[in-house]
Amino acid sequence: MRNLTEANLTDAVLARLSECDDPRLKQVMQSLIKHLHAFVREIEPTPQEWMAGIQFLTATGQKCDAVRQEYILLSDTLGVSMLMDAINNRKPAGATESSVLGPFYVEGAPEHDNGADLAPGEGPGVTVSGTVRGTDGKPLANAVLDVWQTAPNGLYHMQDQQAEEFHLCGKVHSAADGSYSLRTLKPVSYAVPIDGPVGSLLTKLGRHPYRPAHIHFIVSAPGYKPVVTQVYTEGDDYLESDAVFGVKNSLVVDYQRDGDEWKVSYDFVLEPAA
Ligand code: BEZ
Ligand code: FE
Repeated sequence: MRNLTEANLTDAVLARLSECDDPRLKQVMQSLIKHLHAFVREIEPTPQEWMAGIQFLTATGQKCDAVRQEYILLSDTLGVSMLMDAINNRKPAGATESSVLGPFYVEGAPEHDNGADLAPGEGPGVTVSGTVRGTDGKPLANAVLDVWQTAPNGLYHMQDQQAEEFHLCGKVHSAADGSYSLRTLKPVSYAVPIDGPVGSLLTKLGRHPYRPAHIHFIVSAPGYKPVVTQVYTEGDDYLESDAVFGVKNSLVVDYQRDGDEWKVSYDFVLEPAA
């Protein structure tokens, strides 16, 4: 194959996949090549623009380390993570909707009985309570609510040198009747990390980096599909413009005053495992 032109180059590259004996890889690469070539045909980048794109992707990789994943942040801020979530978590009616995991989940938070206080001595706090049920209505005893959130300074524990490991994180177990209760701090809206290439891109695009206040949950119980989700705060300024597109109406809750503290209730509903 020589003298390839704008008109036949894409087909020539696709033809090179003929020997690939992994059908899924072949399908993925066919689609990737078609879309990448179509993108270049549409944009007609200058060599300088193409190099700027390559440098952006290089810087994105170089920003990653054991605790920082700039590519996940790129996927999140381009809405790809929520599209992946939508495709991979099609839920039956009544089941708790999912939302983006985000880059700040750390497996291994301390285990707690129902009623745990994740912020002892700190306040004002919020008591979050409700039930964990199946879509069949069955209360789920000993379900695990794996919880994480930022502190009032907008940082997750691993982002803050002053914070204790697993501050405002915990795995809380539901009671025999499926009820749960935990105390934490009222979450705040915060900016996704902007000290890297994704932050620079957001700035150039005229986009703000804020997420509305939320508490993250992974709720699981034997025999049911776990749900990765977040519970958002009604009235937050960023519900309509979340930097990572994660908000769903069914996940927004009203915080009520409870003396000097707050309270909020949310019921989780899991779908049975296939
Ligand atoms: C988070 O909610 O923790 C998060 C999600 C996506 C990007 C950055 C943070
Ligand atoms: Fe978060």
